[in-house]
Amino acid sequence: MTAKTKSWILMATGRSPTNIAVIKYWGKRDEALILPVNDSISVTLDPDHLSATTTVAVSPTFDCDRMWLNGKEISLSGDRFQNCLREIRKLAGDVEDEKKGIRIRKEDWQNLHVHIASYNNFPTAAGLASSAAGFACLVFTLAKLMNVNEDHGKLSSIARQGSGSACRSLYGGFVKWTMGNDASGSDSIAVQLAPESHWSDLVIIIAVVSSKQKETSSTTGMRDTVETSPLLQHRAQCVVPARVLLMEEAIRNHDFASFARMTCVDNNQFRAVCLDTTWTWQLIFLNTTRQIAEACFLMKWIIFEVAYTFDAGLNAALISPNRKVAGLASKAAICFPPSPENDLASYVTGDKSIIYEAGLQSMKYVEALPPPPEYKDESPCQKSTRDVSYFICTKLGTGPKVLTEESLALINPTTGLPM
Ligand code: ADE
Repeated sequence: MTAKTKSWILMATGRSPTNIAVIKYWGKRDEALILPVNDSISVTLDPDHLSATTTVAVSPTFDCDRMWLNGKEISLSGDRFQNCLREIRKLAGDVEDEKKGIRIRKEDWQNLHVHIASYNNFPTAAGLASSAAGFACLVFTLAKLMNVNEDHGKLSSIARQGSGSACRSLYGGFVKWTMGNDASGSDSIAVQLAPESHWSDLVIIIAVVSSKQKETSSTTGMRDTVETSPLLQHRAQCVVPARVLLMEEAIRNHDFASFARMTCVDNNQFRAVCLDTTWTWQLIFLNTTRQIAEACFLMKWIIFEVAYTFDAGLNAALISPNRKVAGLASKAAICFPPSPENDLASYVTGDKSIIYEAGLQSMKYVEALPPPPEYKDESPCQKSTRDVSYFICTKLGTGPKVLTEESLALINPTTGLPM
């Protein structure tokens, strides 16, 4: 390692999207390596609305690896962070910055420490796959900083060791996580099925039902399911393999009816294995208000050309073949009206053009429509209306990107600390 100046800081910033599974990952066959019991398929969401941005910095003056998430320092001592840092350091290459007069040889990376600052533009740990975007971004950005010369498949297998579904966030569009067979996990990687341009008119509306932290982690829930659900084995071995093939075909052919059917039935079976699990994970679903919220969604939308899927939290994602769903969004705002103190501008966020087409830019538009008859004051559905915190209108998005503008960096280039 050489440098003309004694102390220097080298940085890279990246942004990675989150994703929502349409064929669900639920259950690990290896907990340490995060190897799943079945393949899964996801859609990558537009990073403008749901993404993690991460800056990584390296300097000989840093004396340990440190990380700040959304401005707060967090521990990197857990296995998931340690596994990602170790695996990416193994692949690090030589780095030269002529302007700064810095030269780092690949063997130097073992002794250099990094500072990491990350920011999610959506609620962390609400079930919106923040760790998927976060670990994909961490691995992708470290790979840029350390000049790792590997394809995204290899990077996806490292991100997987941070958070399973993170491997799918290494690509845009439609992505498959192949479960693999090897005990080392080397073939448990993500592959892109089709880029976002393949089916660009799909519209995705996320109903953020609760932006609070989940009460039971997915890790605990999955472990309980693997240990106690007889249905899981049937799902993994007899159902998902055929369903994955049908989903791939539906995506290839832009066959929305089949895509929607597969998405909904797979969501239902994911819920079924959760219900087939001992009480820890089930607690999440026993909350009546939440069940009612779910029932309302299903009743309201199943008759339209819309796919629904819930994430491992409580948030619903509605996918439509085109902007027709924008009209449905306005219905959603009627079934789940904002609290009096909220205006629509903060209640429905995301792609402004979808919101505009729905007429949702005007609160008056929604107020002018009569509420559906079933939403009487005393009905249980009425009680659930406040459960939707807000809606995010979005679409398919791209994979990770390097952000070159210095103004977007989250670490001060002089102090090496978060901005
Ligand atoms: N978990 C949740 N968000 C994260 C992020 N941005 N980076 C790493 N881990 C995370």
